[in-house]
Amino acid sequence: MHRSVQDILNMKKERKKISVITSYDYTLASLCDKAGIDILLVGDSAGMVMLGYENTIPVTMEQMCMFTESVSNARNNSLLVSDLPFMSYQASIEDAVNNSGRLVKAGADAVKLEGGSVMAKTVRAVVDVGIPVMGHLGLQPQTTMLSQGYKVQGRTKDAAMKLIQDAQDLEEAGVFSIALEMVSHEVAEIISKTISVPIIGIGSGVGCDGQVLVVQDLLGMYDKIRPKFAKRYMNLSEDIVRSLESYKNDVVSGTFPREENWFSMDDEAELKKLREHIGS
Ligand code: KIV
Repeated sequence: MHRSVQDILNMKKERKKISVITSYDYTLASLCDKAGIDILLVGDSAGMVMLGYENTIPVTMEQMCMFTESVSNARNNSLLVSDLPFMSYQASIEDAVNNSGRLVKAGADAVKLEGGSVMAKTVRAVVDVGIPVMGHLGLQPQTTMLSQGYKVQGRTKDAAMKLIQDAQDLEEAGVFSIALEMVSHEVAEIISKTISVPIIGIGSGVGCDGQVLVVQDLLGMYDKIRPKFAKRYMNLSEDIVRSLESYKNDVVSGTFPREENWFSMDDEAELKKLREHIGS
């Protein structure tokens, strides 16, 4: 049985830190699940790291459903949360409920959406139909980037008070956790201590209840943007390119494939018959 939303809530009560990683495809998701990661997040960052877009704006529901399905096929242990992409929930509560349902049908246990107090009614409506919601505050790539660009959030008292209010409103609306992106670590710690549901930080310091990273950042597979907060645990892109160069050299020099990589006819007699038949 995989982790439930209640398991994640209990982890905060038991002061256990929560590990979250983004996942978009079957192969990597299987490894994340095997590693014991608590939550697999099918983030709309898929638009950048899987589809090569400049930002998350173009991501569609169809794409999110496909990524969700492939991660769902891989997971055995982790909770699976999927992002509602840009404009799949902002225009109406009906959109939010319908599209949350589509992600659940694709295999998600819960959905994530960006926005604070203004999203409280939407969150409540989705939770009311039985779909758990993770909030997303601080830098909100779907909209903050449009208005402010890539900027640390919660650096002044007023900005911090607004974030705290947003978190309280989301908590009251029924979210089971909140992702907190690029918020000053002092404010992130205050929010984590005052809000009862788990706060999952990304670039928001060690005071959060858990951490989330984009899997390609962690594995060193995405070089277009290298955020300060993304710790690289390996440099996989270098290893991959080196392996592909070796493969190419083997093909060119004829050292691949070898006998252990190919198949033979049943026996010499069959080959002889074939040669006679085609006259060579
Ligand atoms: O889309 C995403 O990957 C996210 C995380 C960075 C929190 O929302």
